[in-house]
Amino acid sequence: MSVVKRGAFIVFEGCDRSGKTTQSRLLAELLKSKGIATVSMNFPERSSSIGQVINSYLTNSKDLPDEVIHLMFSANRWEHMNQIKQQLLKGTTLIVDRYSYSGVAYSAAKGLDFDWCYAPEKGLLKPDAVFYLKTSVDSLTNRGQYGEERYEKVEFQSRVAQVFDRICYREASYWHQFDASQSAEDLHSRITSIAEDLLQKVEAQPLDTLS
Ligand code: TYD
Repeated sequence: MSVVKRGAFIVFEGCDRSGKTTQSRLLAELLKSKGIATVSMNFPERSSSIGQVINSYLTNSKDLPDEVIHLMFSANRWEHMNQIKQQLLKGTTLIVDRYSYSGVAYSAAKGLDFDWCYAPEKGLLKPDAVFYLKTSVDSLTNRGQYGEERYEKVEFQSRVAQVFDRICYREASYWHQFDASQSAEDLHSRITSIAEDLLQKVEAQPLDTLS
């Protein structure tokens, strides 16, 4: 009987407009072009009923206390956990744009306690690698469409970046930090080489959870 090798769980993190979305798309396209079963996802996943509330909040049509929206972002991950687990176990690699770390970074940047923010994430599946696209806040303002959603303010993004830096330091064993100001092509090739090594490495490793 052949044993199914599991897929890799890869997450992209960074501030708004850091280039995560482009890089996660490029990586997913490349893996697919090599015949590797790959699925892309992003959080918040706005189509579920929880996701729709989050979308109304982000587009400023709904106000909620900071604690409530924090728990909704977390619930939005929990409601997809079984689906993510099944995909990984059947051998599909997942490329996920934002995860628990965005949950902590954005809420802690508002002033909520870091440990309180992290608590509801415990028990969710742990990514095999996080690609952190680190931006200088000045460069963020030069990118397109900045400022349309609730969090897209320079001062707020710089606080978010500080929390990401703290998490990156703490989770250094599986976080890979990249300077997001380099060209998209250079970034893509650096990310690809790490991802390809990872795919081989995780095949035989059990899934882990955030603790
Ligand atoms: P996203 O849809 O990824 O937007 P963008 O393409 O601009 O990165 O995320 C929307 C916003 O939600 C973004 O500002 C980050 C924020 N966010 C949280 O505050 N908590 C979370 O748990 C997540 C996943 C995102």
